[in-house]
Formats: sequence, C-alpha cells, structure tokens
Amino acid sequence: MHLTYLYFHIYTLLLIHKPFGSLAAKVSISQNITGLIGNIDIPLTCSFTNDANEKTTKVELFAKNKTDDFDDVRPIAIFELDKPGRLITSGNYLKGRVTLTNITSTSTNATLTFHVLKCEDERDYMCQCEYNDNDGASLPKEKSPPTRISVQESCIKIQRSNVSEVEECIAVTLKHAPAQKNGPRYKKRPETNTRPADQRAENQNLE
Ligand SMILES: *[C@@H]1O[C@H](CO)[C@@H](O)[C@H](O)[C@H]1NC(C)=O
Ligand SMILES: *[C@@H]1O[C@H](CO)[C@@H](O)[C@H](O)[C@H]1NC(C)=O
Ligand SMILES: *[C@@H]1O[C@H](CO)[C@@H](O)[C@H](O)[C@H]1NC(C)=O
Ligand SMILES: *[C@@H]1O[C@H](CO)[C@@H](O)[C@H](O)[C@H]1NC(C)=O
Ligand SMILES: *[C@@H]1O[C@H](CO)[C@@H](O)[C@H](O)[C@H]1NC(C)=O
Repeated sequence: MHLTYLYFHIYTLLLIHKPFGSLAAKVSISQNITGLIGNIDIPLTCSFTNDANEKTTKVELFAKNKTDDFDDVRPIAIFELDKPGRLITSGNYLKGRVTLTNITSTSTNATLTFHVLKCEDERDYMCQCEYNDNDGASLPKEKSPPTRISVQESCIKIQRSNVSEVEECIAVTLKHAPAQKNGPRYKKRPETNTRPADQRAENQNLE
C-alpha cells in the first residue's frame, strides 16, 4: 500500500448556500443552492413584489428533473392568500420533510424549508405568482427564473490530497458546525441587568 487514501464523509454540512434570488424581476427565487445530503433547514424562497394596485393571491412552486420541462409538470406546493401553505399531489414525496410558510396580504415571500436534504431534492425549481388588481380581476401570471438544488454526498472526498485541501475541508466543516440541529446556537446575551428574574432568559442564551 503506497497510496494514502483520505476519505471524508461529512454529511451535515453545507458547502455553499445562497438564500436569496437577486434578479430585478417581479418574481425571484433563491439562487442555485449546493448542499450535502443531511444538511438541515435549507430554505427555498420565492420572493415577489406587491404594489399598491395589485395583490398576490397565489404562489405555486414547481419542481422538475433536469431533463423535464416546467411546462409539463404540476406544482409541488401551493401558497394561497391567508391559507396555510400546502403540498399537493406531485409534492407528496415531501410530506413530513418540509415546512411551508403562510402568505398574507403583506407577504413578500413564500418559503419551503427542507428539514433534511435528500438526494431526491436535487431538482430544478421555479415559482409562479398570481395577482389580482384592486377590482379583483386577475392579472397575468409571473414566473421566476429557474433555480437548481444540487445535493452532494459529502463535503469532500480526498484521494492523495495535499494539506491545504484537507485544511480547506476542515475550515468549511467548522464554519457551519454551529448551525447543526441540536448543536449549540449562541444567542447574544441581553446587555441589561441580571436580576434573578432574568436568570431564565440568561439560561436561554444557549438553546
Ligand atoms: C444555476 O445552475 C444551472 C444549472 O446547473 C446553470 O445553468 C446556471 O448557470 C446556474 N446559475 C447560476 C447563477 O449559477
Ligand atoms: C423525474 O420526476 C418524476 C416525478 O416528477 C419521478 O417519478 C422520476 O423518477 C424522475 N426521474 C428521474 C430520472 O429522476
Ligand atoms: C401556517 O398556518 C397553519 C394553520 O393556520 C399553522 O399550523 C402553521 O404553523 C403555519 N405555518 C407557519 C410557518 O407559520
Ligand atoms: C420573508 O418575509 C418576511 C416578512 O414577511 C421577512 O421577515 C423575511 O426576512 C423574508 N425572507 C426572505 C428570505 O426574504
Ligand atoms: C493542493 O491542491 C490544490 C488543488 O489541486 C492546489 O490548487 C494547491 O496549490 C495545492 N497546494 C499545495 C500546497 O500543494
């Protein structure tokens, strides 16, 4: 054996994660997300503008395989004004694995959060908004650009790696470690007094 094999499997960490879409369009969606199997609480956010003359009545979230076309798939989730966001039939595979926000007349986004990222979540996503004008008439639907969630097996698989590659992997690992579920999450301590009545709040600094 003259080869050194270093094999890292780091499942609960995020490699790159950019939550916000940034196009100037009316409807946008989180930019491409690269995650690892087992990453927790990964939000996919659809953002939309609401001006004074119209209101968003419905947001539909679509998912497709890379080879499919959005025109051929049904939405996986629907967010309707003042109703709980819900998964529909094509999104049944996500039951119990995601949280959906509820949209109200003041909302500017609708979010589906993956509790624990799985291989099958590697798909292309797009959202579409429906608007009504002040008279209640429907306006043309607006679509976001597509975005992709890529799910990788681990942070890095190193074969005959050099020191700097290993160090980089460890750095990425540590950077995201505090965000792990059940891991310590530090909340800044309130800077006011510390009377006994505040003891409980202080104990909640670590949650
Ligand atoms: C997002 O991913 C798609 C598919 O891999 C790619 O074509 C596109 O360029 C990516 N967009 C950005 C902003 O990285
Ligand atoms: C494509 O997506 C459908 C569900 O929309 C799924 O049943 C099918 O297995 C997927 N195909 C591939 C190659 O991932
Ligand atoms: C959305 O509303 C439902 C029912 O009203 C509620 O059970 C759920 O917790 C709400 N979801 C969020 C993310 O607030
Ligand atoms: C979504 O909107 C809420 C307010 O409704 C805001 O607090 C939150 O930061 C927004 N999230 C994103 C990702 O834009
Ligand atoms: C380690 O490998 C990376 C990628 O192959 C390379 O960019 C880097 O220069 C190497 N570093 C050392 C110290 O050899």
